[in-house]
Order: sequence, then C-alpha cells, then structure tokens
Amino acid sequence: MNRIDLIASLAKDSNTLLDVGCDHAYVLIKALLDYGCKMGIAADINIGPLNSALQNIKNKNLESRIKIVQSDGLKNIVDDFDTVIIAGMGGNLIKSIILDSIDKLNNKKLILEPNNDRPLVRECLINNGFKIIDEYAIYDMNKYYEVMVLQKGSCNYSDFEVKFGPILLKKRMPDFLKFYENKAKLLEKIIREVTSLDIKEEKEKELFEINKYILNS
Ligand SMILES: C[S@@+](CC[C@H](N)C(=O)[O-])C[C@H]1O[C@@H](n2cnc3c(N)ncnc32)[C@H](O)[C@@H]1O
Repeated sequence: MNRIDLIASLAKDSNTLLDVGCDHAYVLIKALLDYGCKMGIAADINIGPLNSALQNIKNKNLESRIKIVQSDGLKNIVDDFDTVIIAGMGGNLIKSIILDSIDKLNNKKLILEPNNDRPLVRECLINNGFKIIDEYAIYDMNKYYEVMVLQKGSCNYSDFEVKFGPILLKKRMPDFLKFYENKAKLLEKIIREVTSLDIKEEKEKELFEINKYILNS
C-alpha cells in the first residue's frame, strides 16, 4: 500500500471528506472510488493545484460528488464534513491550519500526515482535547511517512509518546523500526565524527532514547 492509498483507506465510509491542501486530489478521488466515501471537498490555497484537481476529478466523472474550494486552511469552508485530511505539509503549517479553525474541527475525524515536526502536531491536538486513535508508519518511494488519526477525547501521554507516537510505539510496525534503525546508525556516525561536545551530547541523548524506547523495548 502506498501513502495515498493508506490515507484514503483511513477515510473509509466518510459521508463528506474534506481534503485541505488537496493538490491533484488523488487522495480524495481514491477515497471516493475505492473506499466508500460519499462526497468530497477539495480545498487548496493555490489555483494551480485546484485546476489540476478539477481536471483529475473530471477525468473520473466525479464533478457531482466533489466540490472545489479555494481556501487558506479551512477558512473558506462553509459546508459540513465529517472527516478532514491534511497531508503532505510541514508540521508547523498543519498546526497553524488546525489552530486557525479549531472550532470547525470539533467532533470531526482528523487524518494528518505531517512531513516533519510530528511531535508539534501531536502536542497541539492533545492540548485542544483530541486523542490519537491510530497511527501508521510507511516508506513510499524510499521516503518515510507517518499518518495519524485523531478524534475528540481525553488522553494522557508521556513525553516519549508525544515525541515518537503513542500508537506507533505499541504497534512497532516494520517501517517504523527501519526508520529508527537507520536514524540510530546515522547518530552513531555523527557521534563518532563530531568535534563539538554540545552536539555530541545532544546526539547521544537522542540515540539513548531511540535505543531505550524503540529498538530495545
Ligand atoms: C505537497 S502538496 C500535498 C498534496 C496532498 N495533500 C498529498 O498529501 O499528496 C501541499 C499542498 O498544500 C497546499 N497548501 C499549502 N498551504 C496551504 C494552506 N494554508 N491552505 C490550503 N492549502 C495549502 C499547496 O498549494 C499544495 O497543493
């Protein structure tokens, strides 16, 4: 399963699926055609991606089921939806999109795939009353991705769970372990070669955490 297929599958059977930053709309199209989603909203801040989304939607005869909206985050979204995808963006941008429209996200299912700064995204949602209900780690075309699914609910995570992903730590998926095995090897190399004591100490701490909480647990 590739990244697009994984994300689309997590939206299975949504009534109205909103994709913020839809770009080509491949995820939305897949979710409607293969995973039983009924209606879609394809939103993007830029007109170029929306034109390409429109073309792809027309090619699959989905114009009557997918509405296209130019929007910065969820700011111009007026229609109701039950599931939202925000994928393929930096964690900081995803966090600001969420915080800008937190009132529109109550009781929604959130499917997020931040390219980086994942702890920032987890922390922001936990602080706003969401809990992580599932997490996935995959390599697609040699690039590592983590996808998280959230909904309203209380939870109590440790710092390590927020950092590495509470469900990923439990699931120990092969691609998650592979990512941290590679990261540990890279850190060992840096520790051997670096001359700055501060950097060495920081990398040793990071390596210790990876070994203790992921690779040897
Ligand atoms: C790398 S693409 C990811 C596309 C798709 N979500 C995926 O995961 O394959 C990022 C998209 O987010 C859009 N984008 C960036 N900032 C945005 C914002 N504030 N609101 C909505 N869309 C945004 C960009 O125009 C671009 O089409």
